[in-house]
Amino acid sequence: MVNIALPKGRLGEKVYQMFADAGYECPAVLSNSRKLIFENPEKGVRYFWVKPSDVAIYVERGAADLGAAGKDIIEEYDPDIYELLDLGVGKCRMAVAAKKGFREDPERILRVATKFRSIALDHYAARSRDIDIIELNGSIELAPILGLSDVIVDIVETGTTLLENDLAPIETIFPISARLISNKSSFKFKNAEIEGIRTALRDLVNERRLNP
Ligand code: PRP
Repeated sequence: MVNIALPKGRLGEKVYQMFADAGYECPAVLSNSRKLIFENPEKGVRYFWVKPSDVAIYVERGAADLGAAGKDIIEEYDPDIYELLDLGVGKCRMAVAAKKGFREDPERILRVATKFRSIALDHYAARSRDIDIIELNGSIELAPILGLSDVIVDIVETGTTLLENDLAPIETIFPISARLISNKSSFKFKNAEIEGIRTALRDLVNERRLNP
């Protein structure tokens, strides 16, 4: 049995649909129950729903053999896992944004609000910029509006949240999409099963790229 951690929510449902289209269906996964674990012994797969930011931990520690995690989570937590495939869904970007018209004063420490502490620290360390990091858990966009920070480092998907709050993107740090990740020892000991899943998903991703 291959244990697969799916990120709870819309992205996870999309990812599950990819597994199903690739031949690893388990229809109960999408049932509206409060159950967290679903299995299809015939296909040799067991799925479970976890908080998106926890997928990498389940996979790193071997509670899941495979998982789907956003590149943002992989960059932030730097888990000891293999990244097997870009699933081509959940596309967005990690960006710096500020109030429209914001001008940075290089003489002052930059106040940065974010959920992504490590990404923000690395980004500014690479340019030797001193920052004061303000860690928040959500609604990051409020910080510059209320004067809590100068800029934010956050995910931008459509840009609507920034626009509706009079904020503007300043720069993109890196593009994001969901990745298929594997536990390192599972990759060795369940290699045939995992390679089977990876190949089927890769074919699906390639086909979608050609016929979007
Ligand atoms: C994310 C992100 C932005 C928003 C961007 O928030 O933090 O707030 O989506 O999307 P947009 O560019 O399409 O407007 P999320 O919904 O994950 O909630 P959060 O406030 O908990 O971060």
